[in-house]
Amino acid sequence: MNLATRLLLVFSVFVIAAGYWLTDFDAHFAFRGDGRWKPTRAGDPANGKVLFAAGGCVSCHASSGADDRLHLGGGKPLKTPFGTFYPPNISPDPKDGIGRWTETQFIRAIRDGTAPDGRPYYPSFPYTSYRHLSPDDAIDIFTYIRTLPPVSGKPPNHDLTFPFSIRRGVGLWKLAFLDGSVIEPESNHSESWNRGRYLVDGVGHCAECHSPRNFMGAIIDEKRLSGGPNLEGKGIVPNITPDKTGLAAWSEADIANLLKDGFTPDFDSVGGSMAEVVRNTAELSDVDRMAMAIYLKSLPPIQGQMRSK
Ligand code: HEC
Ligand code: HEC
Repeated sequence: MNLATRLLLVFSVFVIAAGYWLTDFDAHFAFRGDGRWKPTRAGDPANGKVLFAAGGCVSCHASSGADDRLHLGGGKPLKTPFGTFYPPNISPDPKDGIGRWTETQFIRAIRDGTAPDGRPYYPSFPYTSYRHLSPDDAIDIFTYIRTLPPVSGKPPNHDLTFPFSIRRGVGLWKLAFLDGSVIEPESNHSESWNRGRYLVDGVGHCAECHSPRNFMGAIIDEKRLSGGPNLEGKGIVPNITPDKTGLAAWSEADIANLLKDGFTPDFDSVGGSMAEVVRNTAELSDVDRMAMAIYLKSLPPIQGQMRSK
């Protein structure tokens, strides 16, 4: 072996080792505070129920084909450009669901995107938004889920295209794109504005559909909420910032009403995945829906694509 070959060999080993180390995001870079988190109060299932509705958990985790949306057996195929995901069973079943999970494991899953065995979750589970939940609120969701019926059976494995099929790569994705910031209440804004922001940018995960993404599937921050291609259907997901290509002509009440009954100010009813979102936001209070509307109308307008009628 000459020197050049040897150097190349050493270099390759180094690159592989660095890659291996970097993709193990959770070992090195996780937002570790949660591991040390201690409950400050007992879980509140009533608050959990509200946040569970705001988070639209049933839209993905309801048992495929079941009539009762509160059977969280999972398995309803979620088609994406990266392949098809089959959301797992998150019912309180001890064997096939999350019945044996601890509170800390749940917080790590929903806020850090990390499984109990340390592996990263794909961001098709929108922990990129849920990570803004306060630990107490996350525990309330967990407490509520534990009051629901256990469902047995595990959905099939995800069917993803290479290289997305390599779960480890998600560690690197998280390192690059997972936002570690916390949503702190801003005292120069009203309580409803702060509540609206918490719901829209956090558990409501509105930006996950209403924003364009880069080639790695991460939301383009400067264009957040200004609409984007519809990954699950045809056409576009509309701009919901107050730009003229978005909600400029909508009043706060118009937005709050849409989130309650699915009707736009022109008496069209929303379809596609938004119809499913409205089934969830319809379960919230008028106060919470108005808070989301107030927050959306306060955003800087961002130009998006004009919708064709
Ligand atoms: C857009 C679809 C979607 C929504 C909405 C969603 N999830 Fe998930 N969830 C997934 C997918 C897909 C996975 C699996 C990710 C993976 O395998 O990496 C998952 C995984 C999980 C897991 C890990 C389960 C396990 O067995 O490891 C938990 C816990 C969970 N979700 C809870 C929730 C809760 C609570 C909500 C509502 C606040 C929610 N999810 C909303 C798609 C979703
Ligand atoms: C799963 C994807 C998805 C999520 C999550 C989502 N939306 Fe939508 N939304 C859509 C789609 C698709 C449409 C277009 C529906 C149609 O035209 O029939 C839409 C339409 C709308 C509209 C009507 C806009 C118009 O110009 O007609 C508003 C307002 C809206 N969404 C607000 C929200 C808010 C607030 C949230 C968060 C609580 C949210 N959406 C979460 C997919 C989503």
